Order: sequence, then structure tokens, then C-alpha cells
Amino acid sequence: MEVVIVPDAKAGGELVAEAMVRLLRRKPDALLGVATGSTPLPVYEALAARVRSGAVDVSEARIAQLDEYVGLPVDHPESYRSVLRREVLDPLGLGADAFLGPDGSDEDVVGACASYEKALAAAGGVDFQLLGIGTDGHIGFNEPCSSLSSRTRIKTLTEQTRADNARFFDGDVEQVPHHVITQGVGTILEARHVVLLATGASKAEAVAASVEGPLAAVCPASALQLHPHATVVVDEAAASKLA
Ligand code: F6R
Repeated sequence: MEVVIVPDAKAGGELVAEAMVRLLRRKPDALLGVATGSTPLPVYEALAARVRSGAVDVSEARIAQLDEYVGLPVDHPESYRSVLRREVLDPLGLGADAFLGPDGSDEDVVGACASYEKALAAAGGVDFQLLGIGTDGHIGFNEPCSSLSSRTRIKTLTEQTRADNARFFDGDVEQVPHHVITQGVGTILEARHVVLLATGASKAEAVAASVEGPLAAVCPASALQLHPHATVVVDEAAASKLA
């Protein structure tokens, strides 16, 4: 595992976007796995700026979703499909045909999870998986004590994560769904390159546990220690509890 410390969130965004650009120049139809939440936004902004300036052509790129709320209509503004359309697909000029994601509104949730696993495999697997990290060490929505070999499945969000995400639902935790479909830890570990981005002091403990703590299901991000090509990009605040 490689740890890169950058001065701030903007620098982290530039660094990760540049890594995506290098991949896309080598493999124009790369499958990029993307997270939602606040942390990756500087990456998406930096990548879109490179597309606008002509530094990279993303017209063949494909985008894969990491997780999705269960029970929100797909066109709900806070479904992760909608969020990714606003934050990633539209700014990059990509259409729905470039997108892979589970359908969180499917009543057959188990079937939706299995279909998504099959779709990822049929697409040749994820080339570059960008992750954020929860304050409790979750990746995707694999909350603490998730199996480190888990596959895409339904999970129940912890109250902490629902509270953390209430800001996207007018601050009203009651509107935050209780369940999500998430790629499993084992699914995430199959990506060829995994990049975890963490910024801000609130992530410092989770980062230290992931990078320097024991490999343990209580901190799902620690599973990245097993990955042959994992990069952890942290700003100085998020790095503040590293030894
Ligand atoms: C969301 C996801 C989550 C977030 C994590 C951090 O798709 O995968 O693991 O990355 O909850 O969220 P932010 O970046 O908002 O602090």
C-alpha cells in the first residue's frame, strides 16, 4: 500500500484526476469505479477541467457505481445514480450507455445485486476504483464488521452513517434510507488499482486504523492492505494520526 500525503483537498483532487488521465491515455475505454459523497468532488472537477481543456479524451470511458440507496426512485435527486449523472457523467459528456450501476428501486434486491456483479464481470472488471472512507472506516457502504470477502449485497446503514449523510437530505436524518446496495469488500478488491482519498481531520482516525491498524473487519478499509496496487491519498489533516 502506497500512502501519498498532499497539502489539501484540491491537491488530492488534482493528483487523483491526473492518475485517471494517465490510465485513460493508456486505456481509453477504462472502467472507472466512482464513489459519491463530498470527498471525490475535487477529483471530478479536476478531471472535467482536463476534458474541457482537451488534455484527455474520455469519450470511450465507462463509469461504474460503488453503491446505491435501496428504495429511492432512480430519478430521485439524491439517488447515487442521479448524483453521479450530475457530478461525473454530465461534466465528462458521457451518456447513460457509459454507466454501470445497480438498480436500488428494484423490488428484487438480491437479483439486482447479482445482476450488478455479472455486469461488472462482463465489462471486464474495474480498472481504477476511487473510494472515500467513512468516519467509521467503511468503504462503499461496507460498514464495520462486514466480511472482507463480501460481494455486492444489501446492507443496513449505521445510525452514524445516516447522520453523516443527512446533509444531503435537507439535514433530515429521517429521509436517509436505512438500506443500500454496495459492492462488497471482496468485489472492491478485484479492481486493478484502488485509490482511497481521505481529506479532513474527521477522517484521521479511520485513515490511521486502515493504514497502520491490524487487518480487521471492524475497519473494512484495512482490507486495502491486502491489495497489490492500493494507493491512499490523504491531506495533511487526514494524515494527522498516522505514526
Ligand atoms: C459513497 C461511499 C462512501 C463514502 C464515505 C465518505 O459512495 O462509497 O463510502 O465515500 O461515506 O463520504 P464523504 O466523502 O461524504 O465523507
